[in-house]
Amino acid sequence: MSTTASPQNGASNGPEHTPVPTPKKKLQGRQFYESIGSPKYVVAPMVDRSEFAWRMLTRSFMSPDEKKQILAYSPMYHARLFGEQAKMRSQFFQPTRGSAAGEGNRDEKRKDELYLDGNPLFDRPLFVQFCANDPNEFLEAARHVAPYCDAEDWDLIYRLINKLHTELSVPVTAKFRIQETKEKTLEYAKMILSAGANIITVHGRRREQKGHETGLADWSYIRYLRDNLPPDTVIFANGNILNYDDLERCLKETGADAVMSAEGNLSDPTIFSKPPAVGSGGREYWWGRDGKGGYRIDAVLRRYYDIIYRHVLEQPIPERKPLFIPSDPVDEATEAHESEEEEGPPQKKQKKDKHRRSNSPSLRYALARSKGGDMPAFEHVLTLVERAIKSGLLEYEANPEKFERSPDVTLTGSKATIAEYGRPWWVCQPHIRPLPEEALVNGALTAKGSVTTAKGRKDDEPPAGSKSAASEKPSTPANGGSETSATLTPDNLVSG
Ligand SMILES: Cc1cc2nc3c(=O)[nH]c(=O)nc-3n(C[C@H](O)[C@H](O)[C@H](O)COP(=O)(O)O)c2cc1C
Repeated sequence: MSTTASPQNGASNGPEHTPVPTPKKKLQGRQFYESIGSPKYVVAPMVDRSEFAWRMLTRSFMSPDEKKQILAYSPMYHARLFGEQAKMRSQFFQPTRGSAAGEGNRDEKRKDELYLDGNPLFDRPLFVQFCANDPNEFLEAARHVAPYCDAEDWDLIYRLINKLHTELSVPVTAKFRIQETKEKTLEYAKMILSAGANIITVHGRRREQKGHETGLADWSYIRYLRDNLPPDTVIFANGNILNYDDLERCLKETGADAVMSAEGNLSDPTIFSKPPAVGSGGREYWWGRDGKGGYRIDAVLRRYYDIIYRHVLEQPIPERKPLFIPSDPVDEATEAHESEEEEGPPQKKQKKDKHRRSNSPSLRYALARSKGGDMPAFEHVLTLVERAIKSGLLEYEANPEKFERSPDVTLTGSKATIAEYGRPWWVCQPHIRPLPEEALVNGALTAKGSVTTAKGRKDDEPPAGSKSAASEKPSTPANGGSETSATLTPDNLVSG
């Protein structure tokens, strides 16, 4: 479920003035949706991922008009920990300077000044998601964020939704997966709505579609809800978005008001932005000979860092050379310096690291050694990424066929999808999983459905390969390296 502050309540996408959150009138259903600008696109709640800088990065590729159409979710926070522990809150939700840890934020006089999360100048509309199995814990947690967001999201059943609906000052929304049949899904949606949910997000996959069994989302279930629920019901569709064109296709096929993306957005933060006209986009956008393109990874990484410098550290952004393009004049001195500078993990360690890619040991090594908040270390990572991309671009110039893919009728399943959607590795593109039937054939899944390799992820938890609920949070330039995560839950409470 979720809560919201509308543009007319001070939430805006334009940096005009420093508004102070005002008490909100609690609007319901479609009225509430319209009050936040009827967004069409939604950055999904993603544990440890849909944090402030990621939301900003996603928005940064959008034009001012497009930005008015996007709504973002926070990562999911553990309600009990969030409510109980000020330290957790200061680490993961920093709406005011006083709420944020760090030297620069100790100034008493500035403690109420708006800072990052939910800042009406740039981080709204925002829905904050909690997992909880106790309504009182949820309420306690929700009260800390209510002034700085537009809605709070929770996905428990009637009694719990209803308690929040009646007692919370902000609207509640709910996100759930489809049931075994369309009729059951409709029944479930009606129950959620009657409990007081103002918006429903429907993830078109069943509960068991996780890990290697994720497979495809079924949009026809969402269409069924659209056709059978009262027309003013606000529905967000979720599942299967691989690129920008899929957004419109999903809206059309499902009749939903908005479309949410998680993995697609994570893999390509530019997904909600209309791609530039063919041949344009400057140095940040790469075009192949075949007219296919994408935002370059080094450009995206620079933008991500720049958000951290500007908003979090409030430091000048370092001067950067223009991104390399193959038509740039060759600078022999730099070339010589770059080849001398190669570094990597000690030989012994290299052998043990089975994830090491032979073409980027130094990059992986540098990333592993970067601690949260250590910007010089992250700048070094950027230099290595830029260098790798430079060599990729030069290789493409010499041998473009090696990288070109095109739709191929002889291919099926994920191979066909990769042929259609795949791009060279230096640009953002969707993450395409093998279908369950392919996982069976390649041995990742057995006939009984048990996973034979990496453990499949639980509902709405980070995919296999990322950190688990019990493990440490990955370090990012911003998080300063964390010990415990309020965004993680060992409880099996929340679904999408
Ligand atoms: C890394 C990651 C973290 C996620 N965390 C959450 C979460 O905290 N809460 C939630 O409701 N769903 C979570 N999800 C599920 C997504 O919100 C979404 O419902 C699901 O991935 C299907 O959408 P997609 O096909 O666009 O990926 C997560 C998904 C991913 C990939």
